[in-house]
Amino acid sequence: MPDLRATLGRLRLCNPTVLASGTVGYGPEYASLIDYTTVGAIVTKTITPEPRAGNAPPRLKETPGGLLNAIGLENVGLERFLSEKLREVATVPAALIASVAGFTVNEYAELTGAVTAREEIDAVELNISCPNVERARRPVWDDPEAVAEITRAARATTEKTLLLKLSPNTADILSVAEAGEAAGADALVVANTLSGMRIDVEAGTPSLGNTTGGLSGRALLPVNLANVWKIAGSVSIPIVGSGGIADPGDALEYILAGASAVQIGTALFADPEAPGRIVDGLAEYMRAHDIESIEGCTGLARKEKEREWQRTTAD
Ligand SMILES: Cc1cc2nc3c(=O)[nH]c(=O)nc-3n(C[C@H](O)[C@H](O)[C@H](O)COP(=O)(O)O)c2cc1C
Repeated sequence: MPDLRATLGRLRLCNPTVLASGTVGYGPEYASLIDYTTVGAIVTKTITPEPRAGNAPPRLKETPGGLLNAIGLENVGLERFLSEKLREVATVPAALIASVAGFTVNEYAELTGAVTAREEIDAVELNISCPNVERARRPVWDDPEAVAEITRAARATTEKTLLLKLSPNTADILSVAEAGEAAGADALVVANTLSGMRIDVEAGTPSLGNTTGGLSGRALLPVNLANVWKIAGSVSIPIVGSGGIADPGDALEYILAGASAVQIGTALFADPEAPGRIVDGLAEYMRAHDIESIEGCTGLARKEKEREWQRTTAD
């Protein structure tokens, strides 16, 4: 059996598949559908300091090649997460990554400290795709300085693995990635959903209650793959690829572009067995190509491109 183990900071995963935040609830809700023993880790639904009811419906809209969602971070809030949910979450037989989102730098620090203080939680993922209350004119995900501040503050509260989840809704994702690395993130998740909308022409109104939402699923893959490629050339911390992964080949594209692990989200809705299939497919690819360790696959396409470039410039 090839070695599929992946490392994200201090977190060691049995294989490089991670279930994306918001697509498996807090975990136990999907235990009858998804075999959690096949995945490296799950990321729980993003929690905020206070409970949130989320956006007005409709919150989901299918679109060719993907799904638009505007859930609006509906969640039980920090206190209930720790006092009620965590007991059930801890029964999930995979590493547990808690996703958190604050509306101020302090809130990110408090949330990170509180969740990582619990032994059930192995790592934390900072979701920066939420409005920036402190700098209202510019969203957090588009502001390298704000991202650095949040990451530094969260870093100071924990020694557990700190993942920073970037957004593709920025013209300069590279600067945000570099700011996150410099501020102490252990790994970057590249990336969240892309802003989009549809209109119901009969009703004459936007299809989503919130007007716009986040595009996930296959249509997102080329966008976030290009972001992984771009970022992998400039940072040295591990990257977790995310966006549209449904098959082993999709996961491999992210890994060959420079990712050390991958997240699977929307694909689970149509195929809850996708993670197991993806892990089997990765192992099969490695055997066919005589690759002993999945870590050896990370960025291979970049190396191939560099060799090609060296050959062309030498001619
Ligand atoms: C219904 C739904 C809810 C989501 N909720 C969250 C969330 O709470 N926090 C978060 O960071 N990302 C959330 N996401 C984004 C996913 O974690 C993932 O980054 C994104 O969907 C891209 O991956 P995919 O194409 O494999 O789904 C959500 C996505 C969907 C479809």
